[in-house]
Amino acid sequence: MTVAPPVIEKLREIVGEQRVLTDEVSFQQYGVDRTTIWQPAPGVVVLPETTEQVQALVQLANAEKLALVPSGGRTGLSGGAVALNGEIVVALDRMNKVVDFNAVDRSVTVQAGMITQQLQEFAEQQGLFYPVDFASAGSSQIGGNIATNAGGIKVIRYGMTRDWVLGLKVVDGNGNILELNHGLVKNNTGLDFRHLFIGSEGVLGIITEATIGLAKPPKELCVLVLGVVDFPSIIEVLKTFNDGMELTAFEFFTHNGMVRVVDHSQVPVPFESEAPFYALLEFEQTSEAELERAMELFETCVMEGWVEDGVISQSLSQAENLWKLREDMSETLSRWKPYKNDISVNISRMPEFLAKVETLAAEQYPDFEVVWYGHIGDGNLHLNILKPDELSIEQFTERCSGVSKQIAALVGEFRGSVSAEHGVGLLKKDYLGYSRSPEELLLMQQVKKAFDPNGIMNPGKVVDAA
Ligand code: MLT
Ligand code: ZN
Repeated sequence: MTVAPPVIEKLREIVGEQRVLTDEVSFQQYGVDRTTIWQPAPGVVVLPETTEQVQALVQLANAEKLALVPSGGRTGLSGGAVALNGEIVVALDRMNKVVDFNAVDRSVTVQAGMITQQLQEFAEQQGLFYPVDFASAGSSQIGGNIATNAGGIKVIRYGMTRDWVLGLKVVDGNGNILELNHGLVKNNTGLDFRHLFIGSEGVLGIITEATIGLAKPPKELCVLVLGVVDFPSIIEVLKTFNDGMELTAFEFFTHNGMVRVVDHSQVPVPFESEAPFYALLEFEQTSEAELERAMELFETCVMEGWVEDGVISQSLSQAENLWKLREDMSETLSRWKPYKNDISVNISRMPEFLAKVETLAAEQYPDFEVVWYGHIGDGNLHLNILKPDELSIEQFTERCSGVSKQIAALVGEFRGSVSAEHGVGLLKKDYLGYSRSPEELLLMQQVKKAFDPNGIMNPGKVVDAA
């Protein structure tokens, strides 16, 4: 579907001649996230530079009844930033500046297109720390992180993106500019719309600026990788370390995933012996006593028979290499176009849940290779089903979505989440009912209607217009 020439002309008037892209290469680049299921087909791509330009775009879209797809770093894994039907893709790439920094409030206001890593570096230059971190930090944008409430590898200690958003400037689907919460720590003045926009995946409006809280930097970080004998033992190790010390991360991955990362990223194996599972733990080495404590806990885990081997980082570069074993997993596996389940349950129910998912996966995917990894310390499991080369992406997706329904039903029984941190987008929409009640889904539609009465904001994603 093409966008009519008079509309293209109006778009040029709003953002400038050079910032309206209509070529196929740009469509392929800006019209899709990291999912591989959909073929992008936007009508046009625009690159605004200010909130006022975004507002003018939303007003135009309302007047012309055209759909908008907000586009950040497009590192999403659920199709939230996919444009399939001639939409106007609003790419925030040029809105990447620091607007304000306040050392007393320990906060920074940035435009939504700022790359996560740039925000982390900015914080570091101020002697502070932005703790939300994940493998795609080098290309994801802060607006997209907020729109998906991104989690990542430090949630166990620092929480999700939501916990760091002190204020937002957004253009809602009505075309209003809303300034939400003004960076305040305390503000009990009724409904907090900021939190509605966090995790809303662009269906209510477009985030253009964010005020982000910053933390004090951690002390030297120490990384431990342990070879664990089975799933239940991972949970025992988690409980032992969580009870015994303050962790900044607790991740896990399986041997078949690690072997691929070692090959892809050319990193050394952590130790010679092979284990079915590996747990990666990180803690702040505040004192010598902390290190001794970690060693004691490690010995307990070995004595209990949960852990067979382990290694502790002796240098920054060794710590970085150990982290790669986990962080490079997603990129490494992308070659197999994996079907991704991103599920969570309460940590206390993890052992029982894991046993059931493991059985289900073994029964349903006897012929597929399954790589497990995730943020087990947060109750979040990533189940990656690798596509066999001989299957087409359509055949593979059909097969996996069937099994995903059963996994989602199990998640529902455990009152868990069918999308722990990747968002809903297009991919998880059909499974929402396993985590959210019909009453909640209706309310979601009504909320969407209030912010986006014409249904122009990222249509088809998360929830349909009422
Ligand atoms: C991760 O934990 O590595 C990310 O959520 C990405 C992924 O699951 O592939
Ligand atoms: Zn993850």
